[in-house]
Amino acid sequence: MQITSLDEYKKNYQLSIDQPEEFWAGIAEKFLWKRKWDKVLSWNFSEPNIKWFEGAKLNITENCLDRHLEKDGDKPAIIWEPNDPHRDSITLSYKILHEQVCRFANVLKKNDVKKGDRVCIYMPMVPELAVALLACARIGAVHSVIFGGFSAKSIADRINDAACKIVITADGAFRGNKQIPLKEVIDDALIGCPTVERVVVLTHTRTPVSMLKGRDIWWEDEIKLVDTDCPAEEMDAEDLLFILYTSGSTGKPKGVVHTIGGYMVYTGYTFANVFNYQPEEVYFCTADIGWITGHSYIVYGPLSQGATTLMFEGVPTYPDASRMWQIVEKHKVNILYTAPTAIRSLMSFGLEPLNGIDLSSIRVLGSVGEPINEEAWHWYDKNIGKGNAPIVDTWWQTETGGIMISPIAFVTPTKPCFATLPLPGVQPILVDENGKELIGNGVSGNLCIKFPWPGMLRTTYGDHERCKLTYFSTYENLYFTGDGCSRDEDGYYRITGRVDDVINVSGHRIGTAEVENAINMHSGVVESAVVGYPHEVKGQGIYAFVIFPKAHEDETLTRQDILKTVTRVIGAIAKPDKILFVSGLPKTRSGKIMRRILRKIAEGDTSNMGDTTSLLDPAVVEEIVLKRNTMDKLELKGK
Ligand code: WT7
Repeated sequence: MQITSLDEYKKNYQLSIDQPEEFWAGIAEKFLWKRKWDKVLSWNFSEPNIKWFEGAKLNITENCLDRHLEKDGDKPAIIWEPNDPHRDSITLSYKILHEQVCRFANVLKKNDVKKGDRVCIYMPMVPELAVALLACARIGAVHSVIFGGFSAKSIADRINDAACKIVITADGAFRGNKQIPLKEVIDDALIGCPTVERVVVLTHTRTPVSMLKGRDIWWEDEIKLVDTDCPAEEMDAEDLLFILYTSGSTGKPKGVVHTIGGYMVYTGYTFANVFNYQPEEVYFCTADIGWITGHSYIVYGPLSQGATTLMFEGVPTYPDASRMWQIVEKHKVNILYTAPTAIRSLMSFGLEPLNGIDLSSIRVLGSVGEPINEEAWHWYDKNIGKGNAPIVDTWWQTETGGIMISPIAFVTPTKPCFATLPLPGVQPILVDENGKELIGNGVSGNLCIKFPWPGMLRTTYGDHERCKLTYFSTYENLYFTGDGCSRDEDGYYRITGRVDDVINVSGHRIGTAEVENAINMHSGVVESAVVGYPHEVKGQGIYAFVIFPKAHEDETLTRQDILKTVTRVIGAIAKPDKILFVSGLPKTRSGKIMRRILRKIAEGDTSNMGDTTSLLDPAVVEEIVLKRNTMDKLELKGK
């Protein structure tokens, strides 16, 4: 399954285009099926209707666990590194992980979770989180993991959208020097969630919690009541594996749906190839399992390939900026997969945190989440890779399930800031605004994919029309990514960022409409507009222009109020970095906010505003520019 030379890549790529079904069938053969498929692929992008490996039966956990037991039962599957460096790390062999998954799967069964039921998971980055995902998959339940940074209201919306029957959580989570009271947040969320019958609570931080009689049960108690024998449920390749909510340009997050067979094949294949994983290696992805990167490249991809995957509970800067490098040294990490925002943040501490640390185990470096800037790329290459570890800059999305455009370590070339070439099976095209294909090299436009790949989303939960509208209606017969992209003279792809109203903050997608809705919930707010602006560490920051007639009474306090509101409604991850109080917003005569102008103002580039003649009231722009400059001066003084 692993490609070993450029020539082989080219041959595989060509085959994957000419005979996609043969190509993917060949890859799928390497996995364990209870019954093989009748048809590799049937599809159309108009409904859309996409089916991979139709008729096949399998259980993904047999691929991630059972099939490794005989040869690799004692091999570490998960190495867990706690938030507190003084606590011991934990290693779970494939045998132990299998046992724990089966046990917890029986707990789910005992609590009446059945095939097809939806399970909400809101947990810290502990091994039990991986166990919970796999236990769902073992019995055919559909997991919906919610990142620990989301608020009670966000959780409630997601639980209700999927009508989850059960919630798996913990008393709390450690994140650096902070503690997050997970169970308390869940209690608040569940006030408005009639479908939830059970809450399983793992003891972790020992934060006091209140347990509701008849609803809440302890993880530790439950696992004592069941045995470790749990046969894997036979699933259809196109049965749901999970739902993962992601933000888009409208106010409401979408539940991206991935199905079992295609997702397994795609994440396993891309993991093995992109990172060139070798049998005894330790692989460390710093993402949180609350995001797609964690699903695909901490849990399913590595485990289906029998890899050793390292899970880190904490943050790269706790207790200090050497933590990530300490972990690499301690566990002799061979492959490190992280985000540009983490690199930039660690870069800002200089080279001192690297002093005396042995990084010689590093063989491959990866980047994901946003375009990596040149400075960060070179810093990563020079100081972490010591100039001889290829950097795979992996472009993909929650919706694509796995990596799409990326170098393949030791096989295809790398180039700073470029995701470079499509992986086998991926057919990117660039189009102009009218959907006309841009042929040849040295062009830039909107990035689309013109042929299905096994890891792609199948629908958005409960609303297929929305899936069609968001991804398959902008351009006929194409999957639209929402990203701008250029193809250079060598044919390498470079992602330039979102072209819709989505901001990428520290590699996390945040919809501007969602943040605006949250801000507008504050009783004093009349209207708001949110845009992204370049941020040194986060990549993009959130800039909010807010009409709040009484703000002048105490702007600082009002700002804090608004931040609180956003934290309540969405979660701390969506807090604006800057709030500017204004008396009006630039609008067209038809009432549409001209974000282009606000983006320019937020960037501080007010020299050339472009065409403002269609504005209802051009004077409003001058006022905003003036206010912005005053705020800048105040901030400088404050520093
Ligand atoms: C958006 C997807 C894929 C896992 C993490 C984010 C941006 C992602 C790259 C990259 C440039 C990137 C895109 C994409 N993005 N990786 N290597 N180079 N941009 O998943 O939350 O679904 O966000 O992240 O804009 O559309 P996500």
